Amino acid sequence: MRSYIQLALVKAIQRVDPFTEKVLVRAEIQTRKMTTLIQDFLNLSRLEEGKMSLNVSSFSLTDLMEETMSETLTLSSTHVIKYEACEEVTIAGDREKIGQVLTNLVGNAIKYSPEGTTVSLKCALNNGHVAFSVTDQGRGISKADQARLFERFYRVQDDRQGHVSGFGIGLYLVAELLKLHGGEIKVQSDLDAGSTFSFVLPVHAQISKS
Ligand SMILES: Nc1ncnc2c1ncn2[C@@H]1O[C@H](COP(=O)(O)OP(=O)(O)OP(=O)(O)O)[C@@H](O)[C@H]1O
Ligand SMILES: [Mg+2]
Repeated sequence: MRSYIQLALVKAIQRVDPFTEKVLVRAEIQTRKMTTLIQDFLNLSRLEEGKMSLNVSSFSLTDLMEETMSETLTLSSTHVIKYEACEEVTIAGDREKIGQVLTNLVGNAIKYSPEGTTVSLKCALNNGHVAFSVTDQGRGISKADQARLFERFYRVQDDRQGHVSGFGIGLYLVAELLKLHGGEIKVQSDLDAGSTFSFVLPVHAQISKS
């Protein structure tokens, strides 16, 4: 479906048809969001059945970070996205799933912080580990909610920002996918002062394949 939309988009650009171009760009973004959602639900069922397997390879972390950044920038123009690259490093893991972890965290940072604020994506290499973090200047999360955030289907009941849609599975998947990679997700947050989600992965990860 995406390739048909992209094809039509190229035609609209060639024919200088700004209205159709705008509509097709929106359709492309929505299709991408739907794809992410379907992937999340498929991963949820796999985890529940104990059938989540990792497709392990060695990949460049820098490339993955840059891909996540450019995907984010095409999906959202409402926030300032900053990226602090780490040194070039190859890590062993499931590239697609680490990508889903990053996409989920950056997606949340955008979703739960006001337009115009900054979302920073960082990675740093030390002692054979890569430390990642995603920081926002959003609504923050209370200590009580932080304790339950990674539970399946858990969503914070919050009146401060009106209704934001979601299923409460993103962070559950993030936590489970990182566990399979020998990592752990952490949150540091104060109400109304923003949040930082961080995790560490060994450069040569100890990975359970099933
Ligand atoms: N960066 C953040 N700032 C503030 N609250 C957050 C942030 N990230 C997550 N939350 C809170 O944690 C809850 C759980 O997040 P999670 O990503 O699991 O689900 P969701 O975003 O509601 O839905 P989805 O399944 O589509 O990701 C959210 O509903 C939100 O209340
Ligand atoms: Mg989410």
